[in-house]
Amino acid sequence: MPAILTIATQPYPDQKPGTSGLRKRVAVFRQPHYLENFVQSIFDSILPPAGSTLVLGGDGRHYNLEAIQIILKMAAANGYARVLVGKDGILSTPAASCVIRKHATFGGIILSASHNPGGPEGDFGIKYNAANGGPAPERITDSIYETSLKISQYRVMDAPDIDLHRTGEASLGEMKISIIDPVADYADLMESLFDFDAIRGLFKGGFRIKFDAMHAVTGPYAREIFINRLQAPEDSIMNAVPLPDFGKGHPDPNLTYAHDLVDILHGENAPDFGAASDGDGDRNMILGRHFFVTPSDSLAILTANATLVPGYREGLKGVARSMPTSSAVDRVARTLDIPCFETPTGWKFFGNLMDAGRVTLCGEESFGTGSSHIREKDGLWAVLFWLNVIASRKQSVEEIVRQHWARFGRNVYSRHDYEAIPDDAAKGVMEHIRAEFGNLPGKSFGSYKVEHCDDFSYTDPVDGSTSKGQGLRLLFTDGSRIVFRLSGTGTEGATLRIYLEAYDPEISRHGLDAQEALCELIGIARQISQLEARTGRKAPTVIT
Ligand code: G1P
Ligand code: ZN
Repeated sequence: MPAILTIATQPYPDQKPGTSGLRKRVAVFRQPHYLENFVQSIFDSILPPAGSTLVLGGDGRHYNLEAIQIILKMAAANGYARVLVGKDGILSTPAASCVIRKHATFGGIILSASHNPGGPEGDFGIKYNAANGGPAPERITDSIYETSLKISQYRVMDAPDIDLHRTGEASLGEMKISIIDPVADYADLMESLFDFDAIRGLFKGGFRIKFDAMHAVTGPYAREIFINRLQAPEDSIMNAVPLPDFGKGHPDPNLTYAHDLVDILHGENAPDFGAASDGDGDRNMILGRHFFVTPSDSLAILTANATLVPGYREGLKGVARSMPTSSAVDRVARTLDIPCFETPTGWKFFGNLMDAGRVTLCGEESFGTGSSHIREKDGLWAVLFWLNVIASRKQSVEEIVRQHWARFGRNVYSRHDYEAIPDDAAKGVMEHIRAEFGNLPGKSFGSYKVEHCDDFSYTDPVDGSTSKGQGLRLLFTDGSRIVFRLSGTGTEGATLRIYLEAYDPEISRHGLDAQEALCELIGIARQISQLEARTGRKAPTVIT
């Protein structure tokens, strides 16, 4: 029986989980005891009951495998009976959520910094998901942070590394380790929700897709689902071999970082459909031939078409969107006569609503869409949903979107990110806007008049918990909005996000480019926030 060591340690002051777990540079995680402190703080906060099973896996980025070996030994020393770990240490975030639920485990640890770049100079991350398969609620992440500030020791088993490059059984002391195929459970779940025959028929008929895995975790999932099960041609997937540094790319599926795919879909002889996912597989970007679907519109369109998909044939209990996400889905919910919830940014707020059976679909403007099939957003799920809708409606992506706008009106939408601003300058911008709140209502800016401003706060209708300070909103009399928010996932300086939305029911204007249509609102946002004077920035770093 290998020895269990108790190692003395000292707290680090910076282990506060952000929007989605703890994210830092790899070099920060490599500091002595840094990872161990955080993992012990998780175990001390959740207190796994005797006999518990842990799910463990990550997006394959640099430091993933080393971290997994450490966590296995710590799990063994902290009384876990069993760990389900993905072969090669791989589990996409949605697959981890699926495995936690399917095998009814006590929870799971996911190693990922999502869409942040990887490699020795890049980022690493770790997050805990609870037994429902969803991100730990704030009371747990707060407790992890509190514990990390006081920690004085951690427990680890003194044992050799486990061979994770094959599926099968292993053990560490009394703890069993099942090295599982990271794809199978997830692919089965997808097959149970979508009409795979119809999608196969689409491909047989010559419909061409290009899915960009961005050298990140979805490569093996896309191969199994699109190529093996749906029999799409081999060239339907690209960058499908996961690399620890994501091929030095930025695995974030948006118009800026997935430019290779965007070029293909806007090029000559473009495929009918394009999609990409991020580092850990929970995000999605949907493209038609020469056409981009905003994530906010995507959520609304999936909601409007849900009953075409076998897994949602019975209809939806309700929908939810994060506050900065456009209100396009609200219009659909009104028509369907189902509830629509507006939550703060971050997937963790959807969990309670889904657990309570109050929503079926949910989404965020940040390329996240999902449903109650798991408790994370799910990139490939969104792609399959679109393919199922296309197979059923027999229309192009653009036709589907334009018909949607013609019926519900268009919520023209864009997000402007200003990355790596010095912390003080970013805080200054936010404080300045907040200080203006008293003066703004009733004031006109060009053709817009401010109706109301507030700092968004949310009271969870299920457990009554309140989350304050979730973003500054300027609401205009015609329903347009500007939202200012500081990112909770960045690792360098501050990222200021400006979310812009204008409603336009007029079909003749639906062909306008979003930046053009939002031009006046963009100017107002920069003016009210004194952005340039306070940060020196003339233009956003990323526009989505
Ligand atoms: C960002 C997105 C948010 C998403 C999160 C995790 O968080 O804006 O919608 O849930 O990543 O993928 P932020 O950096 O804005 O705090
Ligand atoms: Zn992600």
